[in-house]
Amino acid sequence: MTIVLGIETSCDETGVGLVRDGVLLGQALASSMEEHVRFGGVVPEIAARAHVYAIVPTIQAALDDAGLTLHDVGAIAVTTGPGLATALHVGVAAAKAIAAATGLPLYGVHHLAGHAAADTLDHGPLPERSIGLIVSGGHTSLLHVRDLTRTPIEHLSDTLDDAAGEAFDKVARLLGLPYPGGPVIDRVAAGGDPTAVRFPRPLTGRTDSRLGFSFSGLKTAVARYVERTPDLDVADTAASFQEAVADVLTSKALLACADQRVDTLVIVGGVAANSRVRSLAQERCDAAGIELRVPRMSLCTDNGAMIAAIGDLLVRDGAKPSSLDVTVHPTIE
Ligand code: KG4
Ligand code: ZN
Repeated sequence: MTIVLGIETSCDETGVGLVRDGVLLGQALASSMEEHVRFGGVVPEIAARAHVYAIVPTIQAALDDAGLTLHDVGAIAVTTGPGLATALHVGVAAAKAIAAATGLPLYGVHHLAGHAAADTLDHGPLPERSIGLIVSGGHTSLLHVRDLTRTPIEHLSDTLDDAAGEAFDKVARLLGLPYPGGPVIDRVAAGGDPTAVRFPRPLTGRTDSRLGFSFSGLKTAVARYVERTPDLDVADTAASFQEAVADVLTSKALLACADQRVDTLVIVGGVAANSRVRSLAQERCDAAGIELRVPRMSLCTDNGAMIAAIGDLLVRDGAKPSSLDVTVHPTIE
């Protein structure tokens, strides 16, 4: 059985994972997140430079984690897009260099397909068709996932403005809570009343954008509420905001399942850690007879294991490797 080395550098995480026959053998991650905090978002040039420093040590750390050397590896997989162009180039250059030096086959991989594949490392093969909800600081997408190696991911919807995680981060700032806001809001909301404030549920109800997301209006609604409420209850506000996000995300994910007649929902991304998103998704999936799959947290956020997971599926499927002139696709759907 071939061991696949997966490399991910589409944003601020340098991720490397090793997978053989659907089993995660080891992984390592370096993040430049702290370098971006003072800019309030990921700065592509800083991310790319951090990848340059981190890529070789992270590959070595993943090999060490698995107790392997590069000689044990049988194929290389790398994210080619979507993502930040300069950041993607670092991973692709490293993958090509290893492939050129060793003669190993190289596979260019779609980042969002990788997110969906991450769950297979925890819960086994995906059914023939599933819906993927990818919710992080950078993505809010609904995907129709079919055979991950043969059929391109079908993008059902995206956010028109902020990503869900970004909304958590911005609302945390409005409430005087630290970055990253998602985990803090989750914690603070546990002591609040989610029905205290009825915040809007953007793009739900009768709308052209049945599956589309929008979070900037919700953020503005929270900002207005904070401005006009002198004795603000932070816990109630956080809980009510979180309830609105969880309601919108899960109702649209369930709509997508119904539209596509699919009975498996996979949720990944940093926001998949949110306790209310998880509990409401579980409630609604149970009511609709849909299986909910959420992988462990380290596989939800950007990582190299998910890219190795797709590479492993490609190898086992006998797919043709990419050529050595494979390049980045920052904006592919
Ligand atoms: O997938 P991720 O780690 O990184 C990228 O976006 O690339 O996602 C990070 C996002 C941040 O916006 C963070 O606030 C959010 O996920 N997040 C959460 C929770 N944990 C992390 N949002 C809501 N509730 C959480 N428990
Ligand atoms: Zn991602």
